[in-house]
Amino acid sequence: MNLDKLMQKRHFLTSLAVAAALCSPSAWSQEKFKIGLILPMTGPFASTGKQIEAAAKLYMAQNGDTVAGKKVELIVKDDTSAPDVTKRIAQELVVNDKVSVLAGFGLTPLALATAPIATQSKTPLVVMAAATSSITEASPFIIRTSFTLPQAAVGLADWAPKNNIKKVVTLVSDYGPGIDAEKYFKDRFTFNGGQVIDTLRVPMRNPDFAPFLQKVRDAKPDAVYVFVPSGAGAALMKQFAERGLDKAGIRLIGTGDVTDDDILNGMGEVAMGVITSHHYSASHNSPLNKKFVEAFSKANAGLRPNFMAVGGYDGMRVIYEAAKATKGVGGQALLDAMKGQVFESPRGPVFIDAQTRDVVHNIYIRKVERVGGQLYNQEFETIKDVKDPGKSR
Ligand code: PHB
Repeated sequence: MNLDKLMQKRHFLTSLAVAAALCSPSAWSQEKFKIGLILPMTGPFASTGKQIEAAAKLYMAQNGDTVAGKKVELIVKDDTSAPDVTKRIAQELVVNDKVSVLAGFGLTPLALATAPIATQSKTPLVVMAAATSSITEASPFIIRTSFTLPQAAVGLADWAPKNNIKKVVTLVSDYGPGIDAEKYFKDRFTFNGGQVIDTLRVPMRNPDFAPFLQKVRDAKPDAVYVFVPSGAGAALMKQFAERGLDKAGIRLIGTGDVTDDDILNGMGEVAMGVITSHHYSASHNSPLNKKFVEAFSKANAGLRPNFMAVGGYDGMRVIYEAAKATKGVGGQALLDAMKGQVFESPRGPVFIDAQTRDVVHNIYIRKVERVGGQLYNQEFETIKDVKDPGKSR
């Protein structure tokens, strides 16, 4: 073969290789780092979607929209809080959009329905909201930046009996996180010498709390301990006051979901003095949190961030740092780079346990107080570095 022919052949082969590379979907996806953020943006849990989307966008505004030389594309999808929709959207995001990460998951059933997609496609799935303990066990590709109900429940079960609360009725939303909240509170409270005289479970969708609160009133406990998912607390508080439980001297305690920062300020007098345990309060006293609350509020017409927002913000941090470490490579490498991250969050110190892939953080005991004319969960006791008690069985 003469030189000319050789050059022609080489040119032909090079063009072929370029054409093949351009046609391959991975070439296109390599230019971008895509995050599929699936959230309830409509329906009764829309506040969770709104908070997490706002927090993710804030993180990107503060930290740039390129990572490891790739442009970050955040694809936000509304699953209307229906598990089959979450799963279908996740499948489309993986197959068609070739996302590197699935994220969001406003409720436990939505995360559980999608877990098999993460396993089959080896796509890291970052749970930013849902909080039933067992979720991380549903796929080895799940990482959690929200919290777990057992984490929140046990701190309060230690606090209550030392503070004149000996007889309790529990009232929880009847699904995963509610069952966890009930079990871990009851076991620990009983171990501490307290007595749970009744355990009530309310339907998760369209709950009518009134008949349950009447039962609580008739049982005359020292306190009712509650778990309701973020967004449902306002209705519960209203009916608590309407049924006169506060006047009857029954205290309301619970995990911090009930006095969610998104709706707390609108609850009025009835919320004053309510004691809860949780991992985040908008009034958490740290310079980082002050900056976070200010920036979030400024970017969102005065909206106060709640614990869902922090789960989303920290989730983005975990994703960005992992992508930097792998230079944008996804799959198992990206997952491994998410494990073991340690950082300061607006909630305080956070650690992603490499063994369990679950979040480890402080739990705070808080009391609703008026500060500068606004209601806040004021933290007054800290339980440090709490691992999910659900994982030590
Ligand atoms: C959940 O469904 O896992 C969930 C939702 C809202 C919460 C806590 C847990 O506030």
